[in-house]
Amino acid sequence: MEGERKTITALFADIKSSMELIENLDPEEARSIIDPALRVMMEATRRYGGHVMQSTGDGIFATFGAPLAHEEHPQRALHAALTMQEELNRYSDGLRAEGRKPVQARVGINTGEVVVRSLVTDAAHAEYTPIGHSIGLAARMQALAPIGSVAVTDQTKKLCDGYFNFKPLGAARISGVSEPVDVYELTGLGPMRTHFQLSAERGLSKFVGRQSEIEQLRRSLELAKAGHGQIVAVLGEAGVGKSRLFHEFKAVARSECMVLETLSLAHGKASAYLPVIELLRNYFGIALEDDKRQLREKRIAKLLAVDSGRVFSRGRRKAREKVTDKVLALERTLDASLPYLFTLLGIQDSTDPLAQMDLSVKKGRTLEAIKRILLRESLNQPLIVIFEDLHWMDSETQALLNLLAESIANAHIVMLVNYRPEYRHEWGNKGYYTQLRLDPLGADSAGEMLEALLDDGGELVSLRRLIIEKTEGNPFFIEELVKALFEQGALRRNGNLKLTQSLAEIKIPPTVQAVLASRIDRLGSNEKDLLQTLAVVGRKFALSLIRRIIDSSEVEVDRFLAVLQGGEFIYEQPAFPDVGFIFKHALTQEVAYNSVLIERRKILHERIANGIESLHESQLDEHFDELAYHYSRSDNASKAVQYLQLASEQALARSPKIL
Ligand SMILES: Nc1ncnc2c1ncn2[C@@H]1O[C@H](COP(=O)(O)OP(=O)(O)O)[C@@H](O)[C@H]1O
Ligand SMILES: [Mg+2]
Repeated sequence: MEGERKTITALFADIKSSMELIENLDPEEARSIIDPALRVMMEATRRYGGHVMQSTGDGIFATFGAPLAHEEHPQRALHAALTMQEELNRYSDGLRAEGRKPVQARVGINTGEVVVRSLVTDAAHAEYTPIGHSIGLAARMQALAPIGSVAVTDQTKKLCDGYFNFKPLGAARISGVSEPVDVYELTGLGPMRTHFQLSAERGLSKFVGRQSEIEQLRRSLELAKAGHGQIVAVLGEAGVGKSRLFHEFKAVARSECMVLETLSLAHGKASAYLPVIELLRNYFGIALEDDKRQLREKRIAKLLAVDSGRVFSRGRRKAREKVTDKVLALERTLDASLPYLFTLLGIQDSTDPLAQMDLSVKKGRTLEAIKRILLRESLNQPLIVIFEDLHWMDSETQALLNLLAESIANAHIVMLVNYRPEYRHEWGNKGYYTQLRLDPLGADSAGEMLEALLDDGGELVSLRRLIIEKTEGNPFFIEELVKALFEQGALRRNGNLKLTQSLAEIKIPPTVQAVLASRIDRLGSNEKDLLQTLAVVGRKFALSLIRRIIDSSEVEVDRFLAVLQGGEFIYEQPAFPDVGFIFKHALTQEVAYNSVLIERRKILHERIANGIESLHESQLDEHFDELAYHYSRSDNASKAVQYLQLASEQALARSPKIL
């Protein structure tokens, strides 16, 4: 790979006055203090899927979203930063106890577009480096961060509002940037964890379509109420409306049954049982307030300098009481499951009876205990158990899901799960399993949704049509695009709604860009290279042209294209006598095009134009427009002028003559 353009989140972490810290220390002793701190930084980075680009003697530079794109790279970076600071605090507590100075760090973060290149340094090594102004800005944030904290730019904050809390640090002048940059300090986790929660908080758009899906869910619930347990899996691409469908169904079903729900997070795969713990917390009613109380107690204990274990244990004891009461009220004979629940929820007594137990035995019994509780509860009332986003699920949660799937055939339980098309599971052949494929909204539904979003009294009909065309009815893309239109100032509400820029100038919203870029990055490098080249050719392309401009053999090209078709990036289109293809999403093409370096784009445009010329030598006149388009985006100015002229003469000749 020669390089590409990417939107990433860059993180710089640096140990504060490391020189002072190791003053008068033997170099080896100094390393023994600094190295664990560096390890903390690197581990936190890796845990959230980041990449350590560089490690200097007393800090690191890490990227999230490169080499591999992640759809929530800014959140990952912030999670990693919080983890770093927490772990460093813990490490420093230990140092203090030994009578040493604490190790404190500053962390700076910024999100923006960069160019990444891999430089081959010698035969065995390639160095991968991102370059760009936005990286320098992250480094500046690090320098501006108060000691022990994390500073981020406005760009990063905007993408993380709701998921995290911030405090403004004021505007800072930064060399090379004309306007002062707003700087924010990251103060902790916010109340939201998923995009859907965020939309619900902002106010959901009017619910459209999906009547048959709601009907299907209803039927499954009726069956479950009659004692025929059901599994319904809703699958669909990111943003198509999986969470919304469950949300709407829950609202109508809640009065007739108990709803228990949980979800997996993109960066949660590394933590076992997280969704299961969440499910149990919901069930037992030990939600976030208890966590907050625990934190408060911990802080008070620290202030009073008393043994935090003792104060801390009060919160745990309360939670244990809650769990015990509920389980015993359900069924006295379930008391044997209590220790397993306590351990899983992290509220066990200091004398944990399971501490010595074999791990796999403990795991089996824990899952069995949860299953029995849910089955017992469903005798009191029908149960809807919701597991969202299985494609991100950890293997322990998966094990619980498999166990439940095996056991609910005769229970008053509906398991509702959702996931993206790439996820596979084993329950497909069960008689009580139903799969619902959620397609993007049809033009009518999408139109109805937009009508509600842009209450313009029908003036912006063409804009609506364009948005639907561009987003192809993906409701998440629709919402984000409309939001971007307002934010970028293209749409103004001045009494009436007015469009003040052409839609072509609107940048793809970063949230949408990230979703699509991370899909593209999951491709192998050959397929990704091909996709990028195809994006330069255009939304539609003919196989004969592709074969001419790609260096690989015909067999290889066919194989790569088959992968892209299988992943639903492109569709085959009848185009006689040639074989033609089209990008499934115009936005995917746009994201892929934008990722190609400008210098490479120029070369590709010229190569494509050459290909068209040689392929259609005898009917060049049918391709003047395309040739003009490609040459004018290449460095071949004379050909560009030539074909632009030919194309415009042709257009003139074809236009109806005015007598
Ligand atoms: N049928 C619909 N009508 C109106 N808005 C919808 C519909 N489906 C989804 N949305 C909105 O689109 C956004 C993305 O939907 P979501 O359910 O979060 O997608 P998914 O869970 O498939 O990633 C949400 O803000 C949601 O409210
Ligand atoms: Mg969802």
